[in-house]
Amino acid sequence: MKRKVTKAVFPVAGLGTRFLPATKSIPKEIMTLVDKPLIQYAIDEARAAGIKEFIFVTSRGKGALEDYFDHAPELESSLRKKGKKDLLSTLKNTNMESGAIAYVRQYKALGLGHAVGCAHRLIGNEPFAVILPDDVIAADTPCLQQMTEAHAETGGCMVAAMEVPPEKASAYGVLDVREDMGSMVSVNGMVEKPAKEEAPSNLAVIGRYILTPDVLKNLNKMKKGAGGEIQLTDAIAKEIQAGRDVYGYRFRGQRFDCGSKAGYLQATVAFGLARAELKDEFGSYLDEMLSMRQAAE
Ligand code: G1P
Repeated sequence: MKRKVTKAVFPVAGLGTRFLPATKSIPKEIMTLVDKPLIQYAIDEARAAGIKEFIFVTSRGKGALEDYFDHAPELESSLRKKGKKDLLSTLKNTNMESGAIAYVRQYKALGLGHAVGCAHRLIGNEPFAVILPDDVIAADTPCLQQMTEAHAETGGCMVAAMEVPPEKASAYGVLDVREDMGSMVSVNGMVEKPAKEEAPSNLAVIGRYILTPDVLKNLNKMKKGAGGEIQLTDAIAKEIQAGRDVYGYRFRGQRFDCGSKAGYLQATVAFGLARAELKDEFGSYLDEMLSMRQAAE
């Protein structure tokens, strides 16, 4: 029987320099879309996929992230006294069972692969998920859940995949497709941030992974790759070279790159419009803005 995926790694050690000065004193994962921090979107998605253990790879200055998942007894009792049940249940979602969350520290910014490798002792010998909280995915069925369901059939390694415009491919890990089966592709190779003319396709890796423990072994021996960093893409590509299965999964949903300002603003608009209590007021404001822009042209 294939083993269920119950552990997920959240690499959150990055400095978030693209969002300075905001990220001078708050981790970028605490930045909010409407009223929920980016990390909460990632946690909710992981829970929906059946994840029970959450491993954060952190670095200096990320203390606010640890506090965020603590219980807040005073706040909770004041909400309880006031009968604010909705807010109380919102808050409940942010609490982690003792022992369900673990923090490991990445002492040096050596790359995404290195960050994931820092979790190897906590993962042990089982398949695990990786979620990059910068990639926020709006979907009816949460992306990682779509993937765990597909993975239960295939086993092996699986990465979320999405077509990107060819001129953008060099910003991603890119798949060399062996066979295209529609929602899934089998993969011949993977290249991290290929030069424009060297991209094997325009099918890009998005920040959701289900990986075998072999990838952790590869990471241990990995040399620096693109950008002088230890790359997760390279460690997964090693699995293909070893003759093991790697799949790309074309998820159903819309992905926002919240690691970039434009992507973050787009996500704010999309998630704002998706809220029942905001969509009328916010929607008419956007309509107004649009007509003012058009009139000015
Ligand atoms: C990382 C991965 C890359 C992937 C991307 C998705 O890159 O290394 O393979 O395509 O996330 O967001 P980063 O955006 O951290 O440079």
